[in-house]
Amino acid sequence: MTTLYQAHLAILVDRYENAMAHFGLDAIVLASGEKSYYFQDDHTHPFHVYSGAQQWLPFSLGAETYIVLRTGEKPILVWPIRDDFWHAPNPVPSGDWQQNWNIITAKKTDKWFGDLPKKTAWLGPQPMAFAVSCEGLKAYVDFAKAVKTDFEIHTMRQASLRGAAGHLAAKEAFLAGMSELDIHLAFLKASQQSAFQEPYPGIVGLNEHAAVLHYEHKSIEPLGNSRTLLIDAGANEHGYASDITRTFARHDDDFNALIQDLDTMEQTLCHSALSGVNFRDLHQQTLIGIATLLREHKICALNVEEQLSKRIPQVFFPHGLGHLLGLQVHDVGGHQIDKLGTLSMPDEQAPFLRLTRTLAENMVITIEPGLYFIPMLLEKMQADIPQHGCDMARIEHFLPYGGIRIEDNVVVKNHQPVNLTREAFLSKL
Ligand code: GLY
Ligand code: MN
Ligand code: MN
Repeated sequence: MTTLYQAHLAILVDRYENAMAHFGLDAIVLASGEKSYYFQDDHTHPFHVYSGAQQWLPFSLGAETYIVLRTGEKPILVWPIRDDFWHAPNPVPSGDWQQNWNIITAKKTDKWFGDLPKKTAWLGPQPMAFAVSCEGLKAYVDFAKAVKTDFEIHTMRQASLRGAAGHLAAKEAFLAGMSELDIHLAFLKASQQSAFQEPYPGIVGLNEHAAVLHYEHKSIEPLGNSRTLLIDAGANEHGYASDITRTFARHDDDFNALIQDLDTMEQTLCHSALSGVNFRDLHQQTLIGIATLLREHKICALNVEEQLSKRIPQVFFPHGLGHLLGLQVHDVGGHQIDKLGTLSMPDEQAPFLRLTRTLAENMVITIEPGLYFIPMLLEKMQADIPQHGCDMARIEHFLPYGGIRIEDNVVVKNHQPVNLTREAFLSKL
């Protein structure tokens, strides 16, 4: 029986054999990367594996691991042996996956690459002297990464389940009046990971901190009756990420009404993640949705067209609607429109849009509209946009709540997208 993993591996072999044929290569070496040290210290930075290598194996790869690909041959895994008494041993993981690999164990000093063919290309950090440079190879393989295999979607479903468990615990911690740090710890515990294993540093903002898009701190102060929690945090399943944001209000007030309406809008956008849709158009649809909410909630009196022409929605929603998701939270190739590496960069309407591609079946993307009260942008609006139509007293009222973001992870389909995040939350209820 072909397992999900074996089918995944066959797809990768096919992709890379095509690349070798296209570029006239005899072999490709993928390197996981090496550990790097803090300046003048003997501690290493947290290790982040090169995604191109990680994609080949069903467990987390460590540093100094190599994959050698040659057309028509089983892939070779060069596994690093640890033979020092400072660290735990590093045995090759057992499992059925081994059937499809030739496995070599090697010490750092071993010359395992001694008999590689002349036309061997390298993908990964710190290229080795033996490799030929191959312009365009990285773009060629990156383009294909956007479309996930069934194995990858299955893995991301697991990452979503763990992420959802973390979010539910975080909500409880918020309602119990805990500090940002304790909410984050509750998230980590329930999602079964340490902070180093998170796919990105979790963002946990109470009250005004919810308006800071990448809020980096974790206050230790319990606020007791905090008004808002914005938590943007995901889980990592052997390299694959979930990237989930929820915003909770303590009281059933007009800020909570805004959350509920943004949530409804977000779900409509998720339903629109269909093959053939250009993501730029979905972003534009979001700006229209934000303008509509601003008017309905009496934040801005201008109609939608007037708001769009004055760029009012961008004051409240300054980031992009979403991005490709996979082994990297902001997965590679979001601006790449073909395998030759042609780029389609965001325009000035949406300068921070990380995804400008036309959606295709089995791409996994995030949908993450937001609506924030960011003092810096509001001051700029008042200075730069005459007759902005915004009710500044009403905005003053909302400032202490910070802002809202709702973020789901969605598998693009031809007819009905699969929302991994909503499915995960439903299964936890
Ligand atoms: N967590 C980063 C992002 O949502 O893109
Ligand atoms: Mn995201
Ligand atoms: Mn996020």
